[in-house]
Amino acid sequence: MTSRSRTEEPQQSRRVVLGVSGGIAAYKACELLRRFSESGHDVTVVPTAAALEFVGAPTWAALSGKPVATDVWTDVHAVPHVQIGQRADVVVVAPATGDLLAKAAHGLADDLLTNTLLTARCPVVFAPAMHTEMWEHPATQANVATLRQRGAVVIEPAEGRLTGADTGKGRLPDPVEIFELVLSVLDRGTASQDVASQDLAGRKVVVSAGGTREYLDPVRFLGNRSSGLQGYALARAAASRGAHVTLVSANVSLPDPAGASVVRVETTAQLREAVVAATATADAVVMAAAPADFRPTTVSDDKIKKAEDGSAPPIELAQNPDILAEISRERAREGAVIVGFAAETGDATGSVLELGRAKLARKGCNLLVVNDVSGGAVFGSLDNEAVILGADGAVVEVPRGSKTALAHVIWDEVARRFAE
Ligand code: CTP
Repeated sequence: MTSRSRTEEPQQSRRVVLGVSGGIAAYKACELLRRFSESGHDVTVVPTAAALEFVGAPTWAALSGKPVATDVWTDVHAVPHVQIGQRADVVVVAPATGDLLAKAAHGLADDLLTNTLLTARCPVVFAPAMHTEMWEHPATQANVATLRQRGAVVIEPAEGRLTGADTGKGRLPDPVEIFELVLSVLDRGTASQDVASQDLAGRKVVVSAGGTREYLDPVRFLGNRSSGLQGYALARAAASRGAHVTLVSANVSLPDPAGASVVRVETTAQLREAVVAATATADAVVMAAAPADFRPTTVSDDKIKKAEDGSAPPIELAQNPDILAEISRERAREGAVIVGFAAETGDATGSVLELGRAKLARKGCNLLVVNDVSGGAVFGSLDNEAVILGADGAVVEVPRGSKTALAHVIWDEVARRFAE
């Protein structure tokens, strides 16, 4: 049996370099800048000359509280083309145009931003935004592959309305979600030597999140208190480590995590269908959702009326399929790593950990993340505390910390099993 514990770094102010290249989505980077500065981070904005055609230097200077330059000839005595990159804790380029990605992939350095990218030794996150044709062009795809291979995080663009009337893949993800993904990269902790390593690159992972609803009639349902926060943190963390992420989301009211494909479901039957379909080609599945264990045997087409005599209508329940047990038993891919969650309160039959071990064996998954939910402590909270149990005997204690930090420890364990 192995035992390991990880200590949390306190949230600290980081030196963020926000690179902005010349696309219409440059205006959305203002919101990203505000998120960083309002949460106490030190932000230096480095726009390209083309970016200033969309949003002017005074806007960046006012929002960041610092002068901005696009060339290497301003304040030369301070050697900014070297200093800015060297001192950064993270460089985020949003939006990253096709041209900027090409320059970065080839190491060109003809302005302050591209010089900064060459001197940075910290994690680098690119959030591309461009028309679908430009994104799908083999040249862009080859550049993205090169950057990812070197350890950069290149977020998949979102789909939707583009400049003009057309729609497709190429939108800048929601700035809030780029912000959360960058925090996820920074929150990965110091346990790993290379916090930016793309150890899930090329892996297909499936994460389920939220709580399912089982309808009694068109307006009423049986549900549960799952917020989806842990599942969304897992999706974001996996995307920041290079994985292709499918997020099966049950009734969660959070923005789509940057870089994840989101499949929305409501009931346990729909969740099962979506998870089983995605599992067929997945390298890892993490069941963070809370599926309702029971559903009403009949769903009334009309709203159920109150009875005159004050009696309550009987509700007959049927048990739902156990999705985690099913995919663990019939995993489509040899070597796929399946992770379950267990929300436990100790009882007369055993402690939280004893019940967790029994559940791990019953479900047949590789890893079980056990939460002690006595008193409802976890639901909707930004923090979590857990013990990860492995079918191989591993016990990993994760002290109270952010759901993002727990997500990264879970992916550490998954990545370790891939390597084995
Ligand atoms: N789960 C699932 N399908 C279900 C119920 C649960 O896949 N119908 C998954 C959850 O996503 C979670 C794990 O199983 O990863 C544990 O959920 P939990 O509700 O604790 O398990 P139960 O099977 O309901 O166990 P118990 O016997 O304690 O009710």
